[in-house]
Amino acid sequence: MRSGVFITLEGGEGAGKTTQQALLAERLQQEGYACLCTREPGGTALGQELRALLLHGDPISPLAELLLYAADRAEHVQTRIRPALAAGQVVICDRFTDSTLAYQGYGRGLDLDLIRQLNQLATGNLQPHLTLWLDLPLQVGLERARSRQTAHLSGAKKFSPVDRMEQAQWPFHQRLYQGFQELAATEPQRIVRIDAQGSPEEVARRIWAVVKSRLG
Ligand SMILES: Nc1ncnc2c1ncn2[C@@H]1O[C@H](COP(=O)(O)OP(=O)(O)OP(=O)(O)O)[C@@H](O)[C@H]1O
Ligand SMILES: [Mg+2]
Repeated sequence: MRSGVFITLEGGEGAGKTTQQALLAERLQQEGYACLCTREPGGTALGQELRALLLHGDPISPLAELLLYAADRAEHVQTRIRPALAAGQVVICDRFTDSTLAYQGYGRGLDLDLIRQLNQLATGNLQPHLTLWLDLPLQVGLERARSRQTAHLSGAKKFSPVDRMEQAQWPFHQRLYQGFQELAATEPQRIVRIDAQGSPEEVARRIWAVVKSRLG
């Protein structure tokens, strides 16, 4: 049996991760691959509860936040990602360890080595084969996220609350952006920058070119 492939989607708010996950899965399925689309936080039943606490609950201290993300990830890797990879599927995960480095490390200022150690513990050293960093200028991303929120208020789209991350201040988002840039520079083999500007279809074509070359 073909062994599984683990792809993660990373990037700032509104960069198009969730949109591109669906388009990539559709394309892969057309090509005959079995896919699992999942996300962090919230890829398991426990994760759903942690997600509600993390994104929509009361403020949490940075270390507690980090540990809750680690708990979410440990459960997710153990019960969903590893079994799907063992079954030969392509797993596409919307945010993974790099988001923790970017948000809790670069964003909140927690020690990057500590986060790396926790990531290793939580994943049992599982690393994505390919990470797609959707690179979108900050302003464009926040506008996309806001128009999604406005669409919700006018009843045009599915409920999508502006969460705690989106309310954070501009310098926080700048640190995040810098974080993704540095992470991509550190691991250029794994983390591929994708220009996330343009239509969803244009971005999907860029992503497919990279994924296809890796699968081939
Ligand atoms: N290429 C695109 N051009 C314009 N709008 C887009 C594009 N891709 C996605 N959008 C819209 O922008 C908003 C954010 O996209 P999406 O939810 O996919 O981003 P995300 O990275 O998953 O965001 P979040 O970090 O908040 O989960 C959505 O309303 C989506 O429909
Ligand atoms: Mg999303």
